[in-house]
Amino acid sequence: MTEKDLAQRTSLRFNDLWSYDSAPESSDYVQLKERYDLFIDGAFQPPENGKYFKSINPATEEVLSEVADAGKADVDKAVKAARKAYNGTWSRIPAKERGKYIYRISRMIQERAREFAILESMDSGKPIRESRDIDIPQVVAHFFYYAGWADKLDYAFPGVKPKAVGVAGQIIPWNFPLLMAAWKIAPALAAGNTVVIKSAESTPLSLYKLAELLRDAELPPGVVNIISGAGNTGAEIVQHPDIDKIAFTGSTEVGKLIQKSVAGTDKKYTLELGGKAANIVFEDAPVDQAVEGIVNGIFFNQGHVCCAGSRLLVHEAISEELVRKLKMRMETLIVGDPLDKNTDIGAINSRPQLEKIQRYLAESVEEGQDIYQTKCTLPEKGYWCCPTLVDNVSQSHRVVQEEVFGPVLTIQTFRTPAEAISLANNTPYGLSGGIWTDKGSKIFKVGKDIRAGVIWSNTFNKFDPTSPFGGYKESGVGREGGLHGLLPYLELSK
Ligand code: NAI
Ligand code: MG
Repeated sequence: MTEKDLAQRTSLRFNDLWSYDSAPESSDYVQLKERYDLFIDGAFQPPENGKYFKSINPATEEVLSEVADAGKADVDKAVKAARKAYNGTWSRIPAKERGKYIYRISRMIQERAREFAILESMDSGKPIRESRDIDIPQVVAHFFYYAGWADKLDYAFPGVKPKAVGVAGQIIPWNFPLLMAAWKIAPALAAGNTVVIKSAESTPLSLYKLAELLRDAELPPGVVNIISGAGNTGAEIVQHPDIDKIAFTGSTEVGKLIQKSVAGTDKKYTLELGGKAANIVFEDAPVDQAVEGIVNGIFFNQGHVCCAGSRLLVHEAISEELVRKLKMRMETLIVGDPLDKNTDIGAINSRPQLEKIQRYLAESVEEGQDIYQTKCTLPEKGYWCCPTLVDNVSQSHRVVQEEVFGPVLTIQTFRTPAEAISLANNTPYGLSGGIWTDKGSKIFKVGKDIRAGVIWSNTFNKFDPTSPFGGYKESGVGREGGLHGLLPYLELSK
């Protein structure tokens, strides 16, 4: 069979015969209030300024709920509640009691996993398959994992006396709302800290559901305070004098502002920022598996992933075959309703994010790069982007250097491992990377030479609570996850 015949047969098979009936989850499963107030000191409280903003479903543009827009006075109230809870209860109860609360939280999230998964997909646009199979199970796993450390800190750091730092201020993004909250709340509580956490402006709802759950779990008031608001609310948390530690995940731009703002104070901080990971495929790689890994690396969660494999580096000898197979696979990806269980690629999280992606693509067209987009049909309402390849790029192009944060993959070829390593390292970021090869020795050599915090070999985007996560260069400061993830929440003294 010629390649043309194969391509024709494949497109016929997938487009005409393999169309799936829709199988949506029901949004009725989630009870939403029309309005959510700030969760401070164990109770929902209206914001001092009386201001609210709306959170929409990016797949339908419908308003889901409105949430409080916390101002300076509210942040101060939340920090005071956290301090009072730290001094009054949380630092006084035995560590094993702290652990029991965290275990209880994880079990209760597990019991309500379906509700959390549907809500997360509605508020963020991510496919239900991901929120159901990745986000929520990982949330539960993080709480379980850190619950286990609560009464074992002396064993975790032998020879030194671990002590909580106090009140943690936490600011999270919109790409994994509840999961980023779990990454931050679980280690903070296990280490004995109390928390003020702010959701991102487009995805505040799952954190308010979590607030209801924390109240049901009878977590002592003030131990976790959950607020909503935009960048200025985040800045109020960062600048508050009674915060001991800042944990931030988001853009490098804001990360730099935070770093400036805490310079000269004794606040501890961790920053988990952007990435521009290279997914490197050598000539001896298993090509079909690599295609799956590339698809998972960049199209997972619409490419709204800091560690996304957004740059494909492929050995010249196999580039034609790989790109052809990749395009065929991409044509089978289903873009659409995030609540449909068959959906591979959901909605782009917000209009500004879609516009940002479109600006990069328009620039690529202007610069004469080759753009390939699948023939996906898009719903009329909502924010969407078909899976996209950008070929004929050079290392200096912005689409190769900067974080697009969408389902957009650039393609470059290389001839030698040294060239692949040099291309992989030549961006301001260093968060993650992928290596596809049959040779273990190549994995060790190339893995050692790539300056990135996480490197996957013959797989991509695998997460585990026991494993530390974080970057080099402009990808951030510090590590989250694993034993390392406890350190930023502890003072270690002799
Ligand atoms: P962002 O960095 O502005 O937002 C992240 C969080 O920081 C939100 O909760 C926001 O309210 C808060 N924030 C904004 N300004 C702040 C300030 N001055 N002080 C304290 N907190 C502040 O990111 P944005 O605008 O939503 O997305 C822009 C780009 O950032 C994306 O296109 C993507 O490239 C990158 N990004 C990276 C993420 C990651 O996981 N590393 C997550 C989200 C965005
Ligand atoms: Mg929303």
